Amino acid sequence: VDTQVLGWGIVGLGRIAGTQIAPAISASPGSTLISVVSRDQDRAEEFARAHGAATALDDYPKMLADPRVEAVYIATPNALHADQVIAAAQAGKHVLCDKPLALTVPAARACVAECRSAGVRLGITFQTRFHDGLAEAAQVVRSGEIGKVVAAEVTMSGGRNLPGGWRTDPALAGLGTINNIGVHAFDVLRYLLGSEVSEVAALTDAEPGFLIDTTALVLLRFRSGTLAYVNANQSVPRSRDDIVLYGNEGRVLGRNLSRPGRVGELIVTTKAGEREFPGSTADAYRRLVEAFADAVAQQRDPSPSGEDGLRSVELTTAIADSLRDHRVVTLPA
Ligand SMILES: NC(=O)c1ccc[n+]([C@@H]2O[C@H](COP(=O)([O-])OP(=O)(O)OC[C@H]3O[C@@H](n4cnc5c(N)ncnc54)[C@H](OP(=O)(O)O)[C@@H]3O)[C@@H](O)[C@H]2O)c1
Repeated sequence: VDTQVLGWGIVGLGRIAGTQIAPAISASPGSTLISVVSRDQDRAEEFARAHGAATALDDYPKMLADPRVEAVYIATPNALHADQVIAAAQAGKHVLCDKPLALTVPAARACVAECRSAGVRLGITFQTRFHDGLAEAAQVVRSGEIGKVVAAEVTMSGGRNLPGGWRTDPALAGLGTINNIGVHAFDVLRYLLGSEVSEVAALTDAEPGFLIDTTALVLLRFRSGTLAYVNANQSVPRSRDDIVLYGNEGRVLGRNLSRPGRVGELIVTTKAGEREFPGSTADAYRRLVEAFADAVAQQRDPSPSGEDGLRSVELTTAIADSLRDHRVVTLPA
């Protein structure tokens, strides 16, 4: 394998692997798909044919033993991620883990620690950071152009698209729409504000028959002083999937920029007037894969990093505490 081209393996050959990440690897000059692992050999072979992988397996340790596989993308149900990350790190593979990194804080910490001690890179598929316009939005915040960001709002909906399969089982999914969608909103707020959450309070609802949340409203205080509101749901058909940062001197509006596969726009409004950038969120997965491969080649941590994955698990754990105890939860500094 050319050292400039990262050889990938994928475990968990479901929807996201098939529709987004395998095509993103194929479309990236710095990446190539080598090996895929399913619980089912026929499924692995079918996926390998569809996406041009040389090797199809039904055994994860066997893939980890293949020296051509330099990085592993993990797209299995949430509860399986942490053990698979740790096994990949111990085999000397870089890891791109889909969200959430783990279901508990100790497991997420173990993932970060294991990758660090093995000297491999750990990234998380928080691709919202790669939506068009949002790097510019982060720059506007950093430049002080809209002043202090007083409040922020993110709405993200999967449409009326209630969770199914393993996502309805708390043992495999952990949380519901908070893990499916909310984690992207929390990560993009941390990225845009360049700050960590200090306090959180949440209310959720579960539609009849569901053991996991299907609508989540979350309030966050950031160390920077910003208060934020997140509406993450899989329960309404006509969401306005916007990101808004309200500063004391202006506003950043990412209209229809919070979800993948959309056409939206970024509008920055200050005393000086209004600037508009067109935005498409279509290429975010490919950009994330390319950024991960670049980070590996340049021997630095990718963005989003394993630490970002750990912060996310800390936050969702605090949200679960808030829901259980009906209180505002303080996160450790
Ligand atoms: N970043 C994003 O925007 C994004 C979007 C969607 C999903 N995700 C994340 O990606 C992961 C996979 O989601 P998905 O939508 O691709 O789910 P999915 O379609 O259900 O695929 C998951 C795959 O995991 C494998 N698997 C192993 N053990 C399983 C079990 N006990 N039950 C069910 N499947 C099992 C299956 O593949 P085999 O049959 O081949 O073994 C299955 O196809 C999740 O962690 C999710 O949070 C991220």
